[in-house]
Amino acid sequence: MQEGARGAVTGKLAVVFGGSGFVGRNVVRELARRGWRVRVGVRRPHLAQFLRPMGAVGQIQLKQVNIRHRPSIAEALKGADAVVNLVGVLYQDGANGFDSVQAAGAASLAQLAAEAGVTDFVHVSAIGANPQSDSLYARTKGEGEGAVMDAVPTATILRPSIVFGQEDQFFNRFATMATTTPFTPLPLIGGGGTRFQPVYVDDVADAVCEALTRPDAKARVYELGGPGVYTFRELMELMLHEIGRKRFLAPIPFPVASMIGFFGQAAGRLPFVEPPLTQDQVKLNKIDNVVNTDGSVGTLADLGVEAQTLESILPTYMEPYRKYGQFAERAA
Ligand SMILES: NC(=O)c1ccc[n+]([C@@H]2O[C@H](COP(=O)([O-])OP(=O)(O)OC[C@H]3O[C@@H](n4cnc5c(N)ncnc54)[C@H](OP(=O)(O)O)[C@@H]3O)[C@@H](O)[C@H]2O)c1
Repeated sequence: MQEGARGAVTGKLAVVFGGSGFVGRNVVRELARRGWRVRVGVRRPHLAQFLRPMGAVGQIQLKQVNIRHRPSIAEALKGADAVVNLVGVLYQDGANGFDSVQAAGAASLAQLAAEAGVTDFVHVSAIGANPQSDSLYARTKGEGEGAVMDAVPTATILRPSIVFGQEDQFFNRFATMATTTPFTPLPLIGGGGTRFQPVYVDDVADAVCEALTRPDAKARVYELGGPGVYTFRELMELMLHEIGRKRFLAPIPFPVASMIGFFGQAAGRLPFVEPPLTQDQVKLNKIDNVVNTDGSVGTLADLGVEAQTLESILPTYMEPYRKYGQFAERAA
């Protein structure tokens, strides 16, 4: 995140969909810091009140929106100067599925934004987005991108690799697993050789803000990754080193992981149960998740953002998982 005083509130209105999520809340904070008025479209405004103090009094407003409900989107778009779409799902949850949210939902939002005359539109997708993918997540991300570009040809598509930072759903999740019992093995799906390029959430937030205002970012696709590329096994080893624990890393062949995913998905159909693993996630894990460097897409650097390293940020939020928390070093 860029240093400096909070910018003056310019009066321009950015409407952020998915602003209550992990990436979204950091985008909302950065937009407010840069002086935008921000309207956040959320399904449950009463659970998103924590966003309001991220700006000056009245700078951040909440509006009830479901991306599957077009009238609620149209209402939220009234008076918008810019739009950011961060709505996404990691697994199907009843009617809130990949198709309805990431493909049809993105299409509705872009069409209504176009009707409202919005041309500054940032759509957050994911590396691997591809309408031909056999992963439903990646396919619907690809279809969402296509629908956004059809409706708003000036839109910017941002495709991050794994996003890390305080409150992330990756390192926090595996660190929680590692601290549950001393005997919990950490799974290495497909042996843990798939490569990732983790990107810091503040850098993604900066990229969103830059993409909204830079003329050279219009009608372009960017893939966002940090300075380092790691295998999944290396990421687990780094996390374990950071929390000062040793755990068995258990390689799980893809067919076995897929079977576990089948049962995980079934468990996820129960109310309030988050599937631990799905077959779709196993499919995603077969493909490297790194920034394309053939020049066909832009990068963080092209948006003027200097990527921060995983090694410099991870220690700032792994403390709660160390044996003696903040006193770990003194006690050791
Ligand atoms: N985190 C990563 O590592 C990563 C990597 C690559 C791409 N991405 C993409 O980046 C975006 C943000 O990811 P994230 O990690 O911040 O995800 P997240 O924490 O799960 O947030 C997802 C957001 O989508 C909203 N949402 C879900 N269904 C909705 C619906 N029907 N109508 C309106 N809002 C809905 C959620 O709102 P509620 O509060 O109402 O649930 C939440 O604000 C997603 O598109 C994701 O695919 C993330």
